[in-house]
Amino acid sequence: MADFEPAALEVLPHAVYEFIAGGAGDEITNRDNEAAFNRIKLRQRVLRDVTRLDTAITLFGQRLPHPIILAPIAYQRLAHPEGEVAAARGAGVAGAVFIVGTTATAPIEDCLAESQSPVWFLLYWQSDRSFNGELVSRMAALGAKAISVTVDLPTPGDRRRQFRAGFKMPDSIATPYFKDRNTGVLNVGTAQKRAMPTWADIAWLRSLTTLPLILKGILDPDDAEQASGTGADAIVVSNHGSRNVDTLPAAIDALPAIAERVAGRIPIVLDGGVRRGTDVLKAIALGATAVMIGRPYVYALATAGAEGVAHCVNLLRRDFEMAMALTGRARIGEIDRSVIW
Ligand code: FNR
Repeated sequence: MADFEPAALEVLPHAVYEFIAGGAGDEITNRDNEAAFNRIKLRQRVLRDVTRLDTAITLFGQRLPHPIILAPIAYQRLAHPEGEVAAARGAGVAGAVFIVGTTATAPIEDCLAESQSPVWFLLYWQSDRSFNGELVSRMAALGAKAISVTVDLPTPGDRRRQFRAGFKMPDSIATPYFKDRNTGVLNVGTAQKRAMPTWADIAWLRSLTTLPLILKGILDPDDAEQASGTGADAIVVSNHGSRNVDTLPAAIDALPAIAERVAGRIPIVLDGGVRRGTDVLKAIALGATAVMIGRPYVYALATAGAEGVAHCVNLLRRDFEMAMALTGRARIGEIDRSVIW
């Protein structure tokens, strides 16, 4: 997985690479997201029958062949001319859920049409409350299988690397859009202003849609509990790839206390620093049902489009299967805390 980054570095403009790679502040959490996985050691068990490995999970009643999800990443046409459409296609081929965002730079309809796997919609809350409802209904009509709301970004973080590199959104891809059924193109970027939802907005959205509702960006057990109490169907334990505020805990370090508090009431997805099969194993062992990857698949997209994305997911899945076999766990259900040393 790590090899995609230097490959992408060769093809991406420097400022775009900095936009993707960078974290907030001094990047202490950015480094720790990966380092924290490295600190966790595994316990291997031997002489178990691992000839048949099963990586399948069930999430919201949907059976998924493996627990690897592609995190929402804004502005993917920065990385590849086809952007989100290529990522959706690659995800589909590799059996991964793709989360297309409000900040998509390719038509969202095409992403849903291109993927053979479920596509979820990531809502960045917009200033007009009812417009959020409209977006969600439209996504439901298009076939999105879940709605995820980013809850951890009241204001953009201090991302110094992209600032120093002079990153500027090219005009051609600055504004996300949907193809409107009647009028052609509806430009979300100019029609609306991004705003921050509160718990009351989440409760309102909950009452509006029957689709599974996922809150992305939870790091505190109290918030996790409130999410469950507000009717969320899942949470994503995430520090937003460390792009918001520095010196937050690594995502994997925040997971155990949240899993303990949630106590299985709703599934937990984890992202931030997942780079190897053993990371997937550790996340599941510590209470996650699934993981999301961000930067690695964008580097793969930059390097080789849809094929790169599929290859990225397949590599991680194969690495995860190897980690399962070598620790003596044939099925996801056998991965619990006893896998951790
Ligand atoms: C993101 N992330 C993000 N999250 C979100 O909720 N909405 C978004 O639009 C974006 N956009 C975005 C752009 C870029 C360039 C990056 C790197 C990240 C965060 C993303 O969904 C995810 O939480 C992290 O990327 C996961 O960490 P890793 O796998 O990149 O370490």
